[in-house]
Amino acid sequence: MSAAAVTSIRPQPLPPEGPVGIVPGVHWIGAFDPGLRSFDTLMKTANGTSYNAYAVRGSEGVAVIDTVDAAHADSFFARLEAVAHYDEITRIVLNHLEPDHSGALPELLRRAPQAEVHLSPRGLQILRALLGSDFDRYRIVPVTTGAEVTLGDRTLRFLTTPNVHWPDTQCTFLVEDGLLFTCDLFGSHYCDERLFDDQVGDFRFALDHYFDRLMRPFRSSVRTALDLIEPFDVTIIAPSHGPILRTDPRAYLRHYRRLAGPRFTFGTDRTLAILYISAHGATGRLARAIRDGAAEEPGVRVSLFDLEGGELHPFIDLIEEVDGIALGTPTINGDAVRAVWELLAQLVDIETRGKLGAAFGSYGWSGEAVRQVEARLQGLGMRLPEPGLRVKFEPSDADLDEARAFGRRLAAHLTGRAVPREIDLAELAAR
Ligand code: FEO
Repeated sequence: MSAAAVTSIRPQPLPPEGPVGIVPGVHWIGAFDPGLRSFDTLMKTANGTSYNAYAVRGSEGVAVIDTVDAAHADSFFARLEAVAHYDEITRIVLNHLEPDHSGALPELLRRAPQAEVHLSPRGLQILRALLGSDFDRYRIVPVTTGAEVTLGDRTLRFLTTPNVHWPDTQCTFLVEDGLLFTCDLFGSHYCDERLFDDQVGDFRFALDHYFDRLMRPFRSSVRTALDLIEPFDVTIIAPSHGPILRTDPRAYLRHYRRLAGPRFTFGTDRTLAILYISAHGATGRLARAIRDGAAEEPGVRVSLFDLEGGELHPFIDLIEEVDGIALGTPTINGDAVRAVWELLAQLVDIETRGKLGAAFGSYGWSGEAVRQVEARLQGLGMRLPEPGLRVKFEPSDADLDEARAFGRRLAAHLTGRAVPREIDLAELAAR
């Protein structure tokens, strides 16, 4: 196929069979997966999804931006072959190596072994695992923010945007056209072969649901990515799932800013939420004493919640906003109670790293629950400066005094008055 044959936008309708022109010489060559109903075990996908890959033709070669899930490789290769010969491919850009975007890569490399492969440095280990002994056969060139490669009359500039939502992620900017390939950023699991945001109907739910399930735990990384992206004159946002965003890209950037926005704060006050569940009232009494102690620290707002009295989702939203949590649970059958585990399981959906965490609870016999909760909080990246408070049976006056002191120490760690430290769970278990 000659270059002239592929530099004009093909007439519609070509989908679902053919490539889709985005601007002259740039084509969508992805795959539709309308039957998908669950993605990554992380989220339901009522509208299926698309795996978006792109071909960019320049005067000195063709770049392929991302590939598709291996199960849909045939569609990808058919569309690619409609716009380019394999020996024209000079560059393959891997914005992210999760299997839904790298599944067809090994075969693409077999067909276009001459291409230089560009990816973030953190993508190298994934690529090495993906290609195995073939890794050294190919020309693999890691890139970071500001690096550029040329296609002759077109230029690809790279932006390293880690942790949105994998460590390897990057965006690629097609300089001359203002076209930004964002991989998972700005994606939607929303399969509609009309493909462009002005043609697919109302997909806002899918855009926001996708952010909520995939990007929300990485809001600060999304904000860092937006800091990099916003100075560019972006005319089209081309994500790796769902509609291509060509209607007012700035509106999507602003929307993502709102979704990823910084937490609501009370000026310089720090916030501590004490959440507990109590079988016979003892853990509740500890919770109130901890609250009273913490509230003595100036500049700390302390709130108290009985997990039995609320729906789970608002507590997740609350924990996302506060600076620290103390989680109280009795030990029942050698375990923390179900409501506490359900809460802890859902904390993976929000950004918890760096928050203060603590555990407490009354127990009757063995009292494992507090240590179990602490292990989970540490696993979520929280900092635990104080060993959890464990009280056998009813708290005595001395226990309640210690609970108030525990609250004061937690609050002091929030304001920075206490010397930072981290508990050693193995050492506590050995005591
Ligand atoms: Fe669409 Fe993170 O893969």
